[in-house]
Amino acid sequence: MATRGLADVVAAETRLSEVRGEEGRLIYGGYEIQDLAARTTYEEVCHLLWYDELPTATELAGLRARLEHGLAVDARAFGLLRLAPRETHPMTVLRTAISGLGCWDADAEDGSLEANGRKAIRLTAQIITLTAAIARLQSGREPVAPRAGLGLAANFLYMLNGREADDVSVRAMDVAFILHAEHGMNASTFAARVAAGTLADMHGAVTAAVATLKGPLHGGANEGVMRMLLSIGSVDAAAAWVRAALERGERIMGFGHRVYRTLDPRAPILRDLAGQMSARDGAARWLQISDRVQQVMREEMERRGKRVYPNVDFFSAPVYSTLGIPTALFTNVFACARMAGWTAHVIEQQRENRLIRPASAYTGRGLRTVMPIAERG
Ligand code: COA
Repeated sequence: MATRGLADVVAAETRLSEVRGEEGRLIYGGYEIQDLAARTTYEEVCHLLWYDELPTATELAGLRARLEHGLAVDARAFGLLRLAPRETHPMTVLRTAISGLGCWDADAEDGSLEANGRKAIRLTAQIITLTAAIARLQSGREPVAPRAGLGLAANFLYMLNGREADDVSVRAMDVAFILHAEHGMNASTFAARVAAGTLADMHGAVTAAVATLKGPLHGGANEGVMRMLLSIGSVDAAAAWVRAALERGERIMGFGHRVYRTLDPRAPILRDLAGQMSARDGAARWLQISDRVQQVMREEMERRGKRVYPNVDFFSAPVYSTLGIPTALFTNVFACARMAGWTAHVIEQQRENRLIRPASAYTGRGLRTVMPIAERG
């Protein structure tokens, strides 16, 4: 008997993060996610994931410099972005570009620990440049080069909008990156580890991860949430909209989780960020609709006896929208943050590698004999 969706199957050992689903806790390398979100930056979390420790001030300065250097993307990779028709989904363009980076990376075929470490840094920076450039090209504008002295979150908003963002926006982006950086054996990370387990190169492994993240049951849900909020349109319409969707047997994007059987600990952190930004901008519409949807879902799921709660994607949507990020780009932003986790998993997998090759239960026809083609009817 196969375990459907591999639920509860332990597929790997990892030191990177622990998801305690029943308790609603997420821990990176021994630190609670709330603690990291309150007291670190995304670059510090990258250091934690790659080197198993939060950095000292000197180590952080060194890593920030290397990441800043990594933001530069080969002009030929930009050429790939320009080849894609403008209406292509930004995740499809990103998947192609991440794969393409492997053509021009001097370390591409070097699977040593040192080379993988260098590629992890470059990829984590380059995906941010690429994502901002994809958004600009798709809206008919030229890409903006990274600005020296800015961290990754600030540089992303700078390259996206062509101007430096204010401190509240930068901190919101930084926290969103921290919250999305790593999450145990989620589908895209598993895909990366399967590819890495064959000793395929790092660019190939993270390309598989980007492809997997795109799906609406995984990273694509944040885009689905925003489309839902747009479709609902007003607080008053929310209850009827959600109940009608549930009646049709549809899943409400941004709710439910394979592992969390209670509230996803990242959701309230994002809810707080959305609240802070909405209060500042006087633009609380999306947040008010989100709150109403959450309330109706709580009532409906209780009534149906289901343990379905908001997940990380639910409040990402109002946060990203308030930051001026186009809806179609939401999953790319998730990919930007998760690159830190994917690359850390590739390194971990290859450090003590064993090919990942599960078994399957055959459910096809019984044994038969091949008939000559003229006798088949
Ligand atoms: N809306 C409505 N009902 C939902 C739901 C949702 N978002 N998520 C789960 N449920 C219901 C299922 O229909 C199922 O009901 P049933 O027992 O009557 O069939 C029950 O809750 C259990 O769900 P299950 O299908 O076992 O969950 P899963 O572990 O296979 O799937 C997800 C997990 C994430 C794929 C699923 O919750 C989902 O599709 N969510 C929406 C997409 C999303 O937000 N993804 C991002 C995840 S971070």
